[in-house]
Amino acid sequence: MANPPWTRRHIISLSDFQPDEYDTVLQTAASFQEVLSRRTKKVPALQGQVVANLFFEPSTRTRSSFELAAKRLSADTLNFAPGSSSLTKGETILDTAKTYLAMGTDIMVVRHREAGVPLTIAQEMDRLQSRVGVFNAGDGQHEHPSQALLDLFTICTLIDEKPSLSLLADKKIAIVGDILHSRVARSNIWSLTASGAEVHLAGPPTLLPKLFAEFVTSSISAAQPQLARRLFLHWSLEPAIENADFVMTLRLQRERMTQHLLPSLREYHQQFGLTHDRLRSCRPAVKVLHPGPVNRGVEISSELMDDPTFSLISQQVTSGVAVRMALLYLMGSGKI
Ligand code: CP
Repeated sequence: MANPPWTRRHIISLSDFQPDEYDTVLQTAASFQEVLSRRTKKVPALQGQVVANLFFEPSTRTRSSFELAAKRLSADTLNFAPGSSSLTKGETILDTAKTYLAMGTDIMVVRHREAGVPLTIAQEMDRLQSRVGVFNAGDGQHEHPSQALLDLFTICTLIDEKPSLSLLADKKIAIVGDILHSRVARSNIWSLTASGAEVHLAGPPTLLPKLFAEFVTSSISAAQPQLARRLFLHWSLEPAIENADFVMTLRLQRERMTQHLLPSLREYHQQFGLTHDRLRSCRPAVKVLHPGPVNRGVEISSELMDDPTFSLISQQVTSGVAVRMALLYLMGSGKI
């Protein structure tokens, strides 16, 4: 049965994403992955449209991947760099967004170190009755939807070349590390629990406080009660990764830590760092993910990161282009 038509103008959070929306993204991304395997990797889907990358915070993967995705769809792209922009002369973020609107931008891809900025821009675009779509490319500790969707696509396509959410229904997935500061973890919690997978969070108590777990659990309980049973919390690594099919490890986000939350990086690596030895308790075919950027030797050993038998890190980056093509296409093609 065909999925219903796409109706979302903005993508700010995965908290209210529905299973058919995940499947639409996965299936559209699979068709763009096929396009990207061709000699000519470009389609005219967004010809004449303008995609503006408004990155107020540094990025390598997400910004370049959105730019390449837009170019592969034949859109015109605008890249904004805060340091050389009129922000330095006192212009506000909303006035910056309105400037890009006035130039005919169709989709704004927004990253900011403060949670809520992409939503504020989306609300302003709606208030102005523009048809601009706003994509949250990572806002503070809140969410990073395109990262979670490319993680989902990477895992699903490993299981079956026709990706769908239900492929993860019986899987155990561990998310390890600095979950407190991680927008990637938050978005992945929504998508992976929606798939029916068991999601096990593990980190030191200071980076996974009980209050946070209660927050997540209560959010999930309120939104979709059956999901609460699929989220588990551990203050040590071993129970989280035992028999896991996938282990996602996260960077320690020291730029977001306002106090000393860890004794030392060496001790953190000893307790929560992924190594070949540590993976022995997982399923034999276990795969490791990391959203990047990686601190080699802290959250993951250099040897494991570079081992293609286990590491999906390069595939995640490759998948990112197809998934972001799908997202821009869905947001831009119908001009909702
Ligand atoms: N995963 C991720 O968001 O990486 P960048 O910060 O390089 O975009």
